Amino acid sequence: MSSKTYQIAALAGDGIGPEVIREALSVLRAVGQKFHIQFNITEAPVGWAGIDAAGKALPDDTLDLCRRSDSILFGSVGLPDRDPTIPKDQRPERAALLRIRKEFGLFANLRPVQLPKALAHACPLRPERQGDGIDILVVRELTGGMYFGQPKKTEDLRNGQQRAIDTMVYTTSEIERIAHVGFKAAQLRRKKLTSIDKANVLENGILWREVVSRVGKGYADVALDHMFVDNAAMQLMLRPTQFDVLLCENMFGDILSDEAAALAGSLGMLPSASLGATTANQTFGFFEPAGGTAPDIAGKDLANPIAQILSVALMLRYSFGLNTAADAIDKAVGKVIDAGLRTGDIHSPSDTSARRIGTREMGAAIVAAL
Ligand code: IPM
Ligand code: MG
Repeated sequence: MSSKTYQIAALAGDGIGPEVIREALSVLRAVGQKFHIQFNITEAPVGWAGIDAAGKALPDDTLDLCRRSDSILFGSVGLPDRDPTIPKDQRPERAALLRIRKEFGLFANLRPVQLPKALAHACPLRPERQGDGIDILVVRELTGGMYFGQPKKTEDLRNGQQRAIDTMVYTTSEIERIAHVGFKAAQLRRKKLTSIDKANVLENGILWREVVSRVGKGYADVALDHMFVDNAAMQLMLRPTQFDVLLCENMFGDILSDEAAALAGSLGMLPSASLGATTANQTFGFFEPAGGTAPDIAGKDLANPIAQILSVALMLRYSFGLNTAADAIDKAVGKVIDAGLRTGDIHSPSDTSARRIGTREMGAAIVAAL
């Protein structure tokens, strides 16, 4: 299918990261064999694993490996018990995750939220609110806004109080480039884009709305509407089926993507892609499950590897344009769900046709279904 060898950095991280990455890598190897694609996978420590191995959440060797790779497959980082023991700028979230986002210019974060029919029971909404199924793509700006805006600091005041400052800042071009990603994604889906802002209060919201409207003129086939973020949070609960693509700035996207994720039944089902600029038909990307390290279930063969496995599919699709291979993974996951195989997070004891299995068995079943 392709004579190229794809260089992939696999950074498992902490908590359930190593278990779910292990299954995702078996799926990646299996798909490589099936479609005759060469993947050269190199694993490296990150997060607390990086601190323990090399004294830093993002060890220099790991960063170098990322620079030499075509894409990064990431597990998750951070351990709530250990994080408070080191200064905040050295903790895994900031020193590894946010650092990688900025370092590689990964400004576009795509989070597809899908509730398969077979998992309707795992959705917290009543069946009538689920309509014909929930299928939303959250497109989140990832390198701007309050996460990175300066000044960002906590200062001591003379009256003994402290004052914390975060700055929300966006430029026209930052909004334009994420808007293009949103509209292009909508063109490949149901051609509807809802742009989220707080234009009734924030300067950022006014600029966001103006720029998105202007970019939208170039996408006549996509229906654009604007929604205040508070209303969007409510509409997601009341009528999630009205949404196709949700376009959000960084902070709003962080919040709404977790809310949307809950609709899909489990965070363990949600992959994500963080993309930078495209060069020579290839997009450098960072692919991770949305779920976090889940230390309470780590090492117990309980974690759902599906989000990590679907992240592999996103990598093949968005970074390498290997759509057939990506489709095969999506289909294999669908088959296994339809066959009634469930990890604990998506299993309901009342569903007698379903069987509860562990992380390894789920990974093996998906490989077999390929
Ligand atoms: C996410 C996470 C991160 C974020 C944290 C871990 C820094 O919540 O990817 O949504 O806030 O972006
Ligand atoms: Mg989040």
